[in-house]
Amino acid sequence: MKTPNTFFIWALCRLNVFVLALFLGSTGIAVAGDTPFLKAIKDNDEPFNNRSVKQVQPVILETVLAKEQYQGGPFRVLARKKEIERYKCSSCHTDKKVLVNNGQELTHGNVVINHGQDGNKLGCIDCHHPVDRDYLEDKKGRKIDFDHSYQLCGQCHFRQKRDWLGGAHGKRVSYWAGDRVVFNCASCHDPHSPRFEKRFPATYSVPLN
Ligand code: HEC
Ligand code: HEC
Ligand code: HEC
Ligand code: HEC
Repeated sequence: MKTPNTFFIWALCRLNVFVLALFLGSTGIAVAGDTPFLKAIKDNDEPFNNRSVKQVQPVILETVLAKEQYQGGPFRVLARKKEIERYKCSSCHTDKKVLVNNGQELTHGNVVINHGQDGNKLGCIDCHHPVDRDYLEDKKGRKIDFDHSYQLCGQCHFRQKRDWLGGAHGKRVSYWAGDRVVFNCASCHDPHSPRFEKRFPATYSVPLN
């Protein structure tokens, strides 16, 4: 028979066992055997390797190794040159003099610049190499390959470039596994007119009842 006093002592003992179990649980000492998930992790003594995931969705688009690092590691960007209609530029831009009038209008009339502070549009030479048209040019006069045009944009838009490096701006092409492949700035933005049109959302969620 439990008198109130013995009941109190009994309850205290149960509580102690409970607290001990909690303590052991929190220190990671297995009390009642591991779950299948924990067991699988413990049995596999190979270190976690994000490049040896069994199934990786392959990226079939052409990519190049970025000339930047991502959290200390290399990554890839979508190549651009194949996408550029008029590349290679040097098929026309030779050292021969152009004899036609309005040559620029005739060949590049579709290039309309809407980029820069109002009333102060960027000129072609702010981005394109003044002599070797197959390249872009940075502020120090060095050539930038069209596949690496993020280097050009990043000179002025360094905040967006920093975000892009970390993955907060732009988009990854592949899934999380395998090589990191991201969209180039010019995959999304037209460098001559980089703003997106304002538009209403095409779809919207059905209201919740
Ligand atoms: C079909 C021939 C052709 C191709 C291909 C071509 N261009 Fe041109 N481009 C011209 C002509 C012609 C002009 C006018 C040149 C002139 O008046 O001196 C011109 C003018 C330009 C100008 C302005 C020159 C200035 O000094 O103001 C730029 C910039 C330019 N091209 C860039 C490019 C780039 C970049 C490519 C490749 C992606 C390219 N072009 C490919 C024919 C071509
Ligand atoms: C803000 C930088 C910038 C300015 C300013 C600029 N360009 Fe470009 N241009 C680029 C980049 C970057 C590309 C490559 C785009 C891509 O990857 O699709 C390009 C591509 C081109 C192409 C090839 C497009 C095609 O699809 O064939 C031509 C031609 C060209 N530029 C001409 C010009 C001319 C002419 C001017 C001046 C009126 C000019 N650009 C001003 C950055 C610039
Ligand atoms: C020489 C400097 C320079 C370069 C290089 C340059 N930009 Fe710009 N960009 C500007 C300026 C200046 C503005 C106008 C900013 C404003 O109105 O606040 C601008 C505006 C923009 C905007 C619109 C910003 C907004 O707030 O709506 C986008 C998007 C953009 N640039 C993308 C690019 C991309 C992509 C490239 C590379 C192909 C690039 N820029 C290269 C100077 C540059
Ligand atoms: C996956 C597509 C994508 C890529 C890649 C991308 N952008 Fe953007 N960017 C966007 C979108 C979408 C916006 C928002 C446009 C809006 O609000 O109208 C934007 C906005 C911007 C703006 C306007 C200011 C802001 O932060 O909202 C700038 C400048 C810009 N991007 C520069 C860049 C540069 C530089 C790169 C490459 C280093 C880049 N973007 C890569 C899609 C992209």
